Amino acid sequence: MNILGISAGFHDAAATVLDSSGNILFASHSERYSKKKSDANICSPLIRELENYNPIGTVAYYERPLVKQLRQLYAGQGVEWDKLSTKKLVHDQIGYAKWWDLKTYKSYNHHLSHAAAGFQTSVFDRATVVVIDAIGEWDTISIWGAEYDSTGKATYKRLWGQRYPHSIGLFYTGVTSRVGLRPLDEEYILMGMAAYGDRRVANKFKHDFITDEWNIKFAENLHTGIDKSYLANSNDMDLAAGAQELAEQLILNVMLRAKQFNWSNNLVYMGGVALNCAANARIGNYFENIWIMPNPGDAGSSLGAAALAYGRRVNWTSAYLGYNIPGNYPVMELLDRLLTEQIVGVASGRAEFGPRALGNRSLLADPRGSEIKERVNEIKRRQQFRPFAPVILEELADTYFDMPSGFPNSRYMQTIARCRVPELFPAIIHHDGTSRVQTVPKDGSGIRELLERWYVMTGCPMLLNTSLNIRGEPMVNDRADADRFEQLYGVKVCS
Ligand SMILES: [Fe+2]
Repeated sequence: MNILGISAGFHDAAATVLDSSGNILFASHSERYSKKKSDANICSPLIRELENYNPIGTVAYYERPLVKQLRQLYAGQGVEWDKLSTKKLVHDQIGYAKWWDLKTYKSYNHHLSHAAAGFQTSVFDRATVVVIDAIGEWDTISIWGAEYDSTGKATYKRLWGQRYPHSIGLFYTGVTSRVGLRPLDEEYILMGMAAYGDRRVANKFKHDFITDEWNIKFAENLHTGIDKSYLANSNDMDLAAGAQELAEQLILNVMLRAKQFNWSNNLVYMGGVALNCAANARIGNYFENIWIMPNPGDAGSSLGAAALAYGRRVNWTSAYLGYNIPGNYPVMELLDRLLTEQIVGVASGRAEFGPRALGNRSLLADPRGSEIKERVNEIKRRQQFRPFAPVILEELADTYFDMPSGFPNSRYMQTIARCRVPELFPAIIHHDGTSRVQTVPKDGSGIRELLERWYVMTGCPMLLNTSLNIRGEPMVNDRADADRFEQLYGVKVCS
């Protein structure tokens, strides 16, 4: 019988289905089905999709409800009496009527779910696992020694942890709200702003907020944000740069501590903070091999909880795990549009699990020339300072980018790299000369074939790649979403 993993109730709800051999049958964010960005709950259309994967015998929830309520009580948020039981929480999310086979309800520690989503999808037999997020039940940082025992069962030994309210994630989220962005959602915009500011503001943050850098202890609880009056005369770019610098310094302290346990030279890095690809570029000096599952935040923990219930290594093949738009990848049509119109959308195959479009729900463009960034920005209607990302043939990544140590490739856009010829590709270069690179190996995927043909035709081994979404909405999921995109923006979306 299949296993259903659920993360829900806070932000960005998601569901994952594993079969009894550890294959990932399905994984998606609820927002892609409800069309409500960062939807906190499993929506009805997603529940209907999940019914295709019956019989489901076990449901695994990504955190311990009772422990979370105790922390909320401690934090002065009160107790939600209807959210103490895993069974009740699950029924509130997915209903009950059609789940006749569902007999087993399990819940796991929040950070352990993060750890399992990383370790059990990695190729490693043994790894040091680092989890950094805003807040789990109590945990904010945890370090684990993970390995498989002689029977193939994944085991986790907790090596170190830090707890609420001492949190790198809450600090970063606090600055996110301080500059007027949406907390627990728009941290990636703060990261983009950081390239324009003065990183020395980190010293002021450190003086005001940190009491112990090595143990990551904060002077105050930043759970409710940072007051607008704090550094009222500073510009937002400097605040962003300071937050990024301090976060990076603290993350490096955690990595150094993790290294000192001498558990393994393989690092699995998870938690929402692991989405900070600018910080990730600096962690490669501590470990030889790094795996960041492409959905390291709480949504990815739906896979982590299911993996814990399964117990063994999960068969990870790609991030294309969501809703399927059937048909062959429209390589020739995309190529034709790129050559004639420079910009085209693609909605084909299974949707990406995780926040990044990796070629199946992407807006693609020719990255050469000076006007393309403005044209794509016109469609995306987003802040002009934000860069777009390149997707490149993996074997040519080193020719065009200085890949940071620890990242010989970046198949899921987990890191940034400095471009060697920024003048040729202004649309995909950030203000600080870096790019968030996606490298594509010879994996037989549609995006790979498109890049190969594009390279033959143009001599350019990369495309601009940004997520296909209507402004303010989640990524396009089905063909109806793609049709709406076409009508609104006048850009062809091929399937
Ligand atoms: Fe988390």
